[in-house]
Amino acid sequence: MPDSSATIEAHLKEARTFEPPEAFRQQANVSDEGVYERARKDPEGYWAWWAEQLEWSKKWERVLDWTDPPFAKWFVGGKINASVNCLDRHIREGRGDKVAFHWEGEPGDTRTLTYSELKREVCRFAAGLKGLGVKKGDRVTMYLPMVLELPIAMLACARIGAAHNVVFGGFSPKSVGERMNDCESRVLVTCDGYYRGGKTIEQKGRADEAAAAVDAFDKMVVVKRLDGEAKLQEGRDVWWHDLVEGKPDDIEAEAMDAEDMLFLMYTSGTTGKPKGIVHTTGGYLTGTFATTRWVFDTKEEDVYWCMADIGWITGHSYIVYGPLTNGLTQVMYEGAPMYPDKDRAWAIAERYKVNVLYTAPTAIRGFMKFGGEHPEKHDLSSLRLLGTVGEPINPEAWMWYHEKIGGTNCPIVDTWWQTETGMHMITPLPGVTTTVPGSATKPFPGIDAAILDENGDEVGAGKGGFLAIRKPWPSMLRTLWGEDERFIETYWSKWDKKTYFAGDGARKDKKGNFWILGRIDDVLNVSGHRLSTMEIESALVGHGSVAEAAVVGASDPDKGQAPVAFVILESGSKDGADLRKTLNQHITEEIGPIAKPREIVVVPDLPKTRSGKIMRRLLVDICEGRDLGDTTTLADPDVPKEIKDLYEERAAKTA
Ligand code: WT7
Repeated sequence: MPDSSATIEAHLKEARTFEPPEAFRQQANVSDEGVYERARKDPEGYWAWWAEQLEWSKKWERVLDWTDPPFAKWFVGGKINASVNCLDRHIREGRGDKVAFHWEGEPGDTRTLTYSELKREVCRFAAGLKGLGVKKGDRVTMYLPMVLELPIAMLACARIGAAHNVVFGGFSPKSVGERMNDCESRVLVTCDGYYRGGKTIEQKGRADEAAAAVDAFDKMVVVKRLDGEAKLQEGRDVWWHDLVEGKPDDIEAEAMDAEDMLFLMYTSGTTGKPKGIVHTTGGYLTGTFATTRWVFDTKEEDVYWCMADIGWITGHSYIVYGPLTNGLTQVMYEGAPMYPDKDRAWAIAERYKVNVLYTAPTAIRGFMKFGGEHPEKHDLSSLRLLGTVGEPINPEAWMWYHEKIGGTNCPIVDTWWQTETGMHMITPLPGVTTTVPGSATKPFPGIDAAILDENGDEVGAGKGGFLAIRKPWPSMLRTLWGEDERFIETYWSKWDKKTYFAGDGARKDKKGNFWILGRIDDVLNVSGHRLSTMEIESALVGHGSVAEAAVVGASDPDKGQAPVAFVILESGSKDGADLRKTLNQHITEEIGPIAKPREIVVVPDLPKTRSGKIMRRLLVDICEGRDLGDTTTLADPDVPKEIKDLYEERAAKTA
């Protein structure tokens, strides 16, 4: 256990700063710093001002009920429907013929849906779901790739007041079954298969396997995406196209209580069974609507592309609810960003003249590895703003994004948030904030974030500590499905029941910029020095010979923990004693000798989840000589075994 005075040491310094370009500031939705003060003075009035911009069938009586923390209620007494705010409202305001989605399949097929068409599809499917017996309050599970039927199904649930439970399409049947059982979901929406990386991926058999594990399984709806003939189980399965046949173009939307559940989203914690994060309707819509408008600086004529998968919270908040409540035109892409060529993503950005692009540091590093010549083949001058999310972005990747993709004149919004927070929490406002590569900068107006120590005291500038949120916010998770106690224990017991513990380490510099140091469980304790694995990784990647790095803490008889680095080399660099010496010297210069890895293991690949997160736990297991356990949720399940051999070979040499 860390002692009460322990802080996380923060060593990396980044001096480059970028002010919003004047031309950007001129046109920005918000360019006046006064918004921070206005929100601070009257947070409830400020959030109510955002909520008023949505359509309610009955106005709320109270903005916030925080009398029984940590159980918050927002917009108490209000009635609202999410699908109406994403669809009907825009159609009524004359945007019916505006494109909602430009969809592109991996083989190159395309489909465009206007807001009117999207509403029609949503209503037909909603009627179909009703026909299958789905009622208000039920949970419907989706196990789909990036096809338009996914947002359609989610909005159809919202229309009739059922909660959706989207499971990432690449997850194992076992995880689907587990999640369906946990939330007692009886209906699954899936597909026959899809295209990814030039292959067809079969999905129906996997869905069948999932269904077999579900106690109360009832119905399966199957989207036809491939040409082949998937086998349907009579009485249980129905094709999507048959289900919607002859259904009405418009059905009434259920007036939902602001606090009714909109959806569930399971996240895997480091231990234990997945947590069912519960998001409700009024507050979640308000938070995602507001942040989309201000952080992405969205305009009526914008084309927006979020490269994330809808199977993650990023897609829920910033493909479905945030952009659609704002009436945006979006690009949605089914496949791999490097298929058939390494410039596919940039070809798409050029084709649809994308203005706002949102992606993850891991993707940016991937593009970086392919080389700058790929974006250079395309005219990316339509881009106005870039965003990142998911993990701390190392300054090298930030600069590459800034130069090669943004052509040096697009602000970058590095958005810190979580499945639990539902919306951006720490992020630049692109027309206001001076950005610094690697920092998510400042809390969004109305968000009270702070860096606390074990006792709940704020630590000084430059000192590391635990990232906390001290006031409720509209799109906060309301509980964990069926696990109120675990909800309190996980997020609200570190200090008092009114302070949210995010699980991340962070520091704040003198200018008030937040630097996320990664999950607390990614923090090392080397001879009593708490070091962020991310900082060591960033230093390694900052050296020209390293393309990617993952650092973990291995137990060490002398130091408590010692850093072990797994690195992928840039093409052209060579493994060997020289390399190790250079890298050790580099880390000594960047951070200090305390951060020098005990071992530097050169590997061909890192164990990543399908969403691109490095599974450090597996690397720890390798260092500790533990059994590797289940690796099926990895993008490539064979990688850990390969790394294990390389680690053991390396360790034998140093011993
Ligand atoms: C964790 C949340 C939020 C959507 C995707 C991930 C890390 C997220 C950043 C950022 C540094 C970040 C944090 C956070 N994270 N964004 N901009 N800078 N770290 O959602 O799976 O719930 O993960 O991702 O560690 O706690 P998630």
